[in-house]
Amino acid sequence: MSLKQQQQEMLKHQVARSALDLIKPRMTTTSIIGVGTGSTANYFIDALAELKGSFDATVASSRASAERLTALGITVLELNAVQEILVYVDGADEVDPNCALIKGGGGALTREKIVAASSREFICIVDESKLVEVLGNFPLPVEVIPMARGLVARDLTAMGGQPVLRQGFTSDNGNQILDVEGFLIPEPAATESAINNLVGCVCNGIFAAQAADQVLVARPSGISLLEQP
Ligand code: A5P
Repeated sequence: MSLKQQQQEMLKHQVARSALDLIKPRMTTTSIIGVGTGSTANYFIDALAELKGSFDATVASSRASAERLTALGITVLELNAVQEILVYVDGADEVDPNCALIKGGGGALTREKIVAASSREFICIVDESKLVEVLGNFPLPVEVIPMARGLVARDLTAMGGQPVLRQGFTSDNGNQILDVEGFLIPEPAATESAINNLVGCVCNGIFAAQAADQVLVARPSGISLLEQP
């Protein structure tokens, strides 16, 4: 691992710990915590294990996160078994100044959006490399029903994107992912809605309707907080 990668891992670790510090005072022994997916979320899972007994259980946004939580002795519940999630904590691939996000680099976007929507609050945790002025440099993940892959790809091309099938990948929902290059997304809510309306699209990785309430950003100089305007 290069020095730059080591520094980035350190920032992910620090921001995950900051999220824990932020939610710890609000936790009770009946709290359900929503847990995201990816390398930054993994640091949060590891930190969360220290607080076992201070909360009731978790809901995970992917099988991978559920397995990591279970291995650490943390209870994982099905979403349909819980009434309310106190907070959802997850990383992102890009964050704009309004806390709109691109997510889904790990392919868990649909479950991530569902758990975020089920939570009272969404705290996003990122290192500074994820901050952008306008979303879209990161290829936008779009989860599609496999038989509609060609249809949705043609529609996305007509919208100005260049969809590329994520090779060898099947989502936890049994679907495929198109990674769409060439989109600049100055109006995330409108683009999110337009792509959601494509027949055969299950979900897209723009989180604007479901933007983060707070984004914790790790820089070498420390952690800062970005909130929805
Ligand atoms: C998973 O599907 C994604 O939405 C991740 O949250 C996102 O890709 C960030 O991952 P890292 O924390 O590994 O950068």
